[in-house]
Amino acid sequence: MKTQIIEENALEEAGEIIRNGGLAAFPTETVYGLGANAFDEEAVKKIFAAKGRPSDNPLIVHIADKNDIARLAHDISDDARRLIEAFMPGPFTIILKKNDIIPKAVSAGLDTVGIRFPSNKTAQSFIRIAGVPVAAPSANLSGKPSPTSAKHVIADMDGRIDAIINGGECSVGVESTIVDASGDVPVLLRPGGVTIDEIREVVPKTRIDSHVLMSVCEGEQPRCPGMKYKHYAPNAEVIVVEGEKEPVQKRIKELLSENCKKTTGVLTMYGSVYDSAVMIDAGASNKEYALRLFKALREFDELGVEVVFAEFCERDGYGLAVKNRLYKSAGYNIIHV
Ligand code: TXA
Ligand code: MG
Repeated sequence: MKTQIIEENALEEAGEIIRNGGLAAFPTETVYGLGANAFDEEAVKKIFAAKGRPSDNPLIVHIADKNDIARLAHDISDDARRLIEAFMPGPFTIILKKNDIIPKAVSAGLDTVGIRFPSNKTAQSFIRIAGVPVAAPSANLSGKPSPTSAKHVIADMDGRIDAIINGGECSVGVESTIVDASGDVPVLLRPGGVTIDEIREVVPKTRIDSHVLMSVCEGEQPRCPGMKYKHYAPNAEVIVVEGEKEPVQKRIKELLSENCKKTTGVLTMYGSVYDSAVMIDAGASNKEYALRLFKALREFDELGVEVVFAEFCERDGYGLAVKNRLYKSAGYNIIHV
C-alpha cells in the first residue's frame, strides 16, 4: 500500500478515505491519531493490524460536536456532564457507558467507550469532513513512543495506512488525560494534557487509579486495558534518575563512567553538564518535558544511543503525566537519589 501525504488544505481526500473504510493518520493537540470510521467494524480492525495492537485494547472515539456524545453513550452522570463542559474540546478523554452503535472492535468487548473532542482545528475539520466519529489510537507501532509530528508517523506507518495528514508538530506532546466517569466516582486512568488539579476543581472527589504510577502485575486486569502492555519504549534502554539537581547530576556522572563502553544519552532538565553523552534538553518545566519527551526518545534511537539516563523531578501539574510516560518507557527502571 502506498501511503499518501495529505496537506491540511486537502482534507476532503482524507474524509473520503475514512468513508471508504480506509485508514488516515491525523494531527491532534496531544499526539497524532490513526483514524478509521468508528461505525465500520472492518475498518476498525485494520487499525489493530497496522499498529500490531492487541485486540483487547480499546480505541478512543473522536468527535467534533458535543451533541454526538448522546448518540454514543448513555447514563451520563452530572459529574460526567461537568467534565465534558469544562474540558471538551481539549486534551481530555471521558469514559462512558457505550451505546450499541459502537462496534465491539472499538470497545474491545467492554461496555464502555472513551470519547474525545480534540481542540486541534485540523482534527476538527477532518472529523467533520469525514462525517462520522473517528476511532483512533496514537499513530505509532504498538509499544513505540507516540508520534508528535507527521515525520514520526511516516517512520512507523509508511506503507501500512492509506494516508497521513501533515499538520506539523503537536502542541501538548503527551496523550489526553483519561477519566472514567462511567461509575459513581470519576477515576483518572491516564494523566495527560489536563492536570488532576484542574479536574478536581470541577469534580473534587475524582480518584487516581493506582496503576497510573505502578506496573501491572502478571494476570491482573487493569481498568484501562492499555496499562498492561509495554509502552513508549525506544530501542535504547531507559533509566530514570529522579531527584534534585546536584544528586541527580552526581549519580548520572557515575552511571556514565560505568557505561563508558556503550553509546549513552542524557535527557536533561538540569543542564548539559556531561561530556561523554548525547544530550537532549527536556526543557526547564514539566510542561516542556511533556512536549519534548516522545520526540527525544525517537531522536536517541536515530543517533544510535544504547542507554538513556533521564533526569526527572516532579515540578508542576504536568509532572504526573511525564512521570507516567517516563516510568513506562523505562520499564520501571527508576533510581531515586
Ligand atoms: O491523546 C490521545 O488520547 C490520543 C489521540 C490520538 O487522541 N489517543 C490515544 O489513544 O492515546 P491510545 O489508543 O494510544 O490510548 C488510549 C488508551 C489505551 O490505553 C486504552 O486501553 C484506553 O485508552 N481506553 C480506551 N477505551 C477505554 C475504555 N473504554 N475503558 C478504559 N480504558 C480505555
Ligand atoms: Mg497509544
